Amino acid sequence: MRYFVVVPAAGSGRRLASSSAGLADVRKQYLEIAGRTVLEHALAPFLADARCARVVVAIAPDDARWPVIERSLADPRLCAVAGGVERADSVRLALAALHGTASAEAWVLVHDAARPCLSAAELSGLVTALQLHDVGGLLALPLADTVKRAAPRAGRVSSNALAQVDATLDREDLWRALTPQMFRFAALTEALSLTSLAGRVPTDEAQAIEWLGLQPQLVAGDARNIKITTAVDLELAAALLAARNSSPAG
Ligand code: CTP
Ligand code: MG
Repeated sequence: MRYFVVVPAAGSGRRLASSSAGLADVRKQYLEIAGRTVLEHALAPFLADARCARVVVAIAPDDARWPVIERSLADPRLCAVAGGVERADSVRLALAALHGTASAEAWVLVHDAARPCLSAAELSGLVTALQLHDVGGLLALPLADTVKRAAPRAGRVSSNALAQVDATLDREDLWRALTPQMFRFAALTEALSLTSLAGRVPTDEAQAIEWLGLQPQLVAGDARNIKITTAVDLELAAALLAARNSSPAG
């Protein structure tokens, strides 16, 4: 079994920048944890996997850091394309670079550049669970906390503080979507092209696939596979990677 990888890394990390003045100048995918950038950590499990045939990274058009990293990683499977306005645009543009290389049925794994803690075991768990599946699916976690919906607040959309409870939701069937998300090349290309033409913005690949009327599989992931969104996540990721590196299993 072989798969292709798309890594959207063209975001500007606005929430991280606004969460800490000291982090405002660097895109979050280029912050360093234990001597390596977040993006390098995110790429590592794929580059260490012989089943990974090619990795397309979507970068911002003015990104000066990527060429340095690409040279230092020196892996012939790596290439980069310019990303787009939304994450879904970046993924769609990266998929286009696989045209002629990936067959219609080939598996494509999409993984956020902002997720540096994906382990080899979690990646293998996803691939093994889905490789015979018709549609594909995604890593996800059942919600553990009780979930509240806040009452709408006119003119206060930028602040999460001091919100009031409108309702308590039944968390029974609710999952948090993680990455990688794994779908067939032709289906994912079609799903993202159609949403783009329709002017709709899916928040992840699975939603675009759902809009085709298909049902992605949920594969239980690992709570350590966090996404760097605010400064706190950076602290958590550093602690998680340090713990992994000091564990006997490596
Ligand atoms: N991403 C992308 N192209 C975009 C927007 C996002 O490739 N136009 C990527 C980000 O680089 C990140 C991943 O999609 O690896 C997940 O997005 P998110 O966590 O939202 O990152 P940002 O958009 O950079 O952050 P923010 O939303 O806080 O600005
Ligand atoms: Mg974003």
